[in-house]
Amino acid sequence: MRFATSSSGETEALGRRLGRLLKGWDVVCLYGELGAGKTTLTRGLVRGVGSRDRVASPTFSLARVYRAGRKTIYHLDLYRVSAGQTRDIGIEEFVSDPRGICVVEWPEAGEAYYPKDRLVVRLSHGGAGRRLSFRARGPRSREIVSALA
Ligand SMILES: Nc1ncnc2c1ncn2[C@@H]1O[C@H](COP(=O)(O)OP(=O)(O)OP(=O)(O)O)[C@@H](O)[C@H]1O
Ligand SMILES: [Mg+2]
Repeated sequence: MRFATSSSGETEALGRRLGRLLKGWDVVCLYGELGAGKTTLTRGLVRGVGSRDRVASPTFSLARVYRAGRKTIYHLDLYRVSAGQTRDIGIEEFVSDPRGICVVEWPEAGEAYYPKDRLVVRLSHGGAGRRLSFRARGPRSREIVSALA
């Protein structure tokens, strides 16, 4: 499933639509170069799940946690993090929280920890805006992508 957004507001709106579809145990991996819109998409996603917490880039804190009623959103940024450090952040706990939704920017270093059935989003600069592609890796993520269509 492919989308193009022409402003950061549109990227955020797409994130909001995605967030409304998510539930505990879902993992969303956000691949894309610097400035591709990963944090912007996450800001909308967090709103869509139902949290009013302030969303900021976890580049220096590595992980941020937002509350949305009974759900928790774990927002990770593994830029320049090694696979060993990823474990120290607590990633195993995050992906196994039945009420937790994990959103990971620069997910490469955490590949060993994600469930097979996860949503893979690739973001890139395209023209004046951004291109986003959503790919499912199993039945649950397929359900999310279908609902997004
Ligand atoms: N569709 C779009 N068109 C134009 N600008 C956009 C679009 N989507 C997001 N942006 C802008 O791109 C900039 C970078 O976005 P963002 O911080 O979300 O990127 P990122 O992928 O998280 O970057 P990093 O790799 O540094 O974490 C922001 O100023 C954001 O408002
Ligand atoms: Mg970011």
